[in-house]
Amino acid sequence: MQLNSEEIRKRAIAESEAAADSRALYEVKMKYLGRAGEVTALLKGMKQVPAEERPAFGKQVNDLRVELEAAFEAQEEKVRAKELEQKLASERVDVTMPGRKGRHGTLHPVTRVRNRLIDIFMGMGFEIYEGPEIESDYYNFTALNTPADHPARDMQDTFYLTDEFLLRTQTSAGQIRLMEKKQPPIKMLSPGRVFRSDDDATHSPMFHQMEGLVVDEHITLCDLQGMLDEFARTMFSETSKTRLRPSYFPFTEPSVEVDVSCAACGGKGCPLCKGTGWIEVLGAGMVNRRVLENCGIDPDRYTGFAFGMGIERIAMLKYGINNIKLLTENDVRFLEQFKD
Ligand code: PHE
Repeated sequence: MQLNSEEIRKRAIAESEAAADSRALYEVKMKYLGRAGEVTALLKGMKQVPAEERPAFGKQVNDLRVELEAAFEAQEEKVRAKELEQKLASERVDVTMPGRKGRHGTLHPVTRVRNRLIDIFMGMGFEIYEGPEIESDYYNFTALNTPADHPARDMQDTFYLTDEFLLRTQTSAGQIRLMEKKQPPIKMLSPGRVFRSDDDATHSPMFHQMEGLVVDEHITLCDLQGMLDEFARTMFSETSKTRLRPSYFPFTEPSVEVDVSCAACGGKGCPLCKGTGWIEVLGAGMVNRRVLENCGIDPDRYTGFAFGMGIERIAMLKYGINNIKLLTENDVRFLEQFKD
């Protein structure tokens, strides 16, 4: 039997070098060295080789097999290295590339101011009480010393639901609910939505108030002003001052309106404070003894003060917002300006 091992070697090596990837190389390997491969077939065909030629033939085939195995292995290493290089190149990450920024929201200015107010007053020992938004006429008016024929009812245009029930016009209703349940000492902070039929650049039919109530022995108007001074300094500026002006609310006596020195001009007078140097921020006063009586609290032993402020108004002053509607439109371009 004639064996042209040189021809087979050249052919097999050429084919293995042409194999583009490890899969193709594997096929070449099988074609020659696999169970049905050409070199394997030669070994199997040894029987037909005359006995005297067999050793030489066998050695030749075996040498060919060993040589091809080594050649294929060397080729395999090259192909693997090339494949790894390609894989690394395709998975390459440019770590110097700037990242994609995620958009994240911001707290609404009303929420921010409410949280700030809660922080300030909680720091002074106040507890939060939240009353219902649908109130009875009794809690919203009558118990607050504002009977049905009282002219002060005209101060607030009320949304009535029935003769008896209404959308609360003031968080002051919560004062009654709390004082009915609890004897002094009381230090209550009551945030919430209130509703009035009122609509212009600084009034909206729904807005938020923050109510404060302190009742104990020996509480005076000085305590109120001291606390409000502290509030103004923390909320607006270190140099903010307050001033009390006489006013009228049926449920406080005496009643005051509280101005804060204008943070925009420092009190010199500017368009924001209409040249006065002062900005009105809230209503307050000493709790009317009739209100204490209505709640079963002894007005000869206890006195108290209450205050109520519009959260939108504080937010507008603090951030220089000139139209209350901006606070309900939820335009992202407006809202995203309020970042920490
Ligand atoms: N409830 C009053 C208002 O809405 C504000 C206020 C609260 C005044 C507490 C005095 C005491 O106008």
